[in-house]
Amino acid sequence: MRPLAHSIADLRERARARLPRTLFDFIDGGAQDEATLRANTEALRAVRLLPRALVDVSELDTSVELLGRRYATPLVVAPTGLAGLLWPRGEALLAAAAAARGTAFCLSMMSACSLEEVHAAAPAPFWFQLYLLKDRGINEALMERARACGCEVLVLTVDTKIQGPRERDIRNGFTVPPRITAANLLDMLTHPAWLARVGLGPAVSFGNLAGSACASRDVVSIARFAQDQYDQTPSWTALEWVKRRWRGPVLVKGILDPRDAWLACEHGADAIAVSNHGGRQFDQAPAALSVLEDVAARVGGRAQILLDGGVRRGADVVKALAHGAQGCMAGRALLFGLAANGEAGVSRALEILQEEVRNTLVLLGQPRIDQVDARCLMREPAPGS
Ligand SMILES: Cc1cc2nc3c(=O)[nH]c(=O)nc-3n(C[C@H](O)[C@H](O)[C@H](O)COP(=O)(O)O)c2cc1C
Repeated sequence: MRPLAHSIADLRERARARLPRTLFDFIDGGAQDEATLRANTEALRAVRLLPRALVDVSELDTSVELLGRRYATPLVVAPTGLAGLLWPRGEALLAAAAAARGTAFCLSMMSACSLEEVHAAAPAPFWFQLYLLKDRGINEALMERARACGCEVLVLTVDTKIQGPRERDIRNGFTVPPRITAANLLDMLTHPAWLARVGLGPAVSFGNLAGSACASRDVVSIARFAQDQYDQTPSWTALEWVKRRWRGPVLVKGILDPRDAWLACEHGADAIAVSNHGGRQFDQAPAALSVLEDVAARVGGRAQILLDGGVRRGADVVKALAHGAQGCMAGRALLFGLAANGEAGVSRALEILQEEVRNTLVLLGQPRIDQVDARCLMREPAPGS
């Protein structure tokens, strides 16, 4: 029997071993030089927490209320397109593992499994993520379907005007569904388990957009689809439109500038994800953590705030809360688990993160996660003091 993975880094190595390079790079990579991708994790790693001594930590409470529902830990499975390329029915497995661990799961509009497939597999209500399209009729129909599938929260991603320039994908000739070519034949053949499970299985496509122009394309065509279909002329009234149509909590994902956070609140956002899309869009953007405190100050409690980007340790969640967030989204951490071992791998990734959150709170001497605040942070002394 294989030994258990002990960290998200272990799961990443297993994902790297099990996936053809094209697929590993698709989840692991970011835009251009990947500076923003690295900045996300480095900013979190650089934070120090200041532990208190002789505190009774025998009764831990890591649960939080996010957008009307209580969860075991302040962690949300971020929306990730095409998880079904890593493992058959990938999104359904993510949803099932998240529900079993009391964690919120957000389905991407660009998922391989459709809303209805995930609804059939997930024992708990989930969240749904939407991109604004020029054809608002498609958006409206997706919102209707999401509501019929019991989705509680709508996540509106606002940082994707065009598809980010992901050079690993372009270099690797990434396609949806993946195609076996002379250039990648050896790579595919040396990953027989993935090949048998996914590569030679039913063609993976965008389950929610079946029949649309986005089915079955190479990365260049997907980028063109995005360019053609993503609405590049939206204004904040689009958020009001979504809010009216959805009639439930709306989380705006992809905010970095505190002025935008304020505008999102003014136009009806119930929550905000401070996010640079995991470094996959704009490679000049700051680390999500680096703007979190300013965003939280500007929001002033009018909306809940999630940090999204770079979460690889439970301590990262605690650090985000100490900077003013009420929770975190994590994308790759769970995808590494999925690629490593299907639903069991996702469950292990969540277990690792949840255990690490508890472990961090105990060592920090702060038994209640909802009382983590800036006093838990080790601030660098001011110059000259
Ligand atoms: C493979 C992959 C696909 C993604 N697809 C989407 C998507 O369809 N919609 C979206 O809003 N964000 C998408 N994201 C971004 C994630 O929701 C999240 O912002 C990001 O993964 C956070 O960074 P992390 O991976 O370091 O946790 C995707 C991320 C990855 C890695």
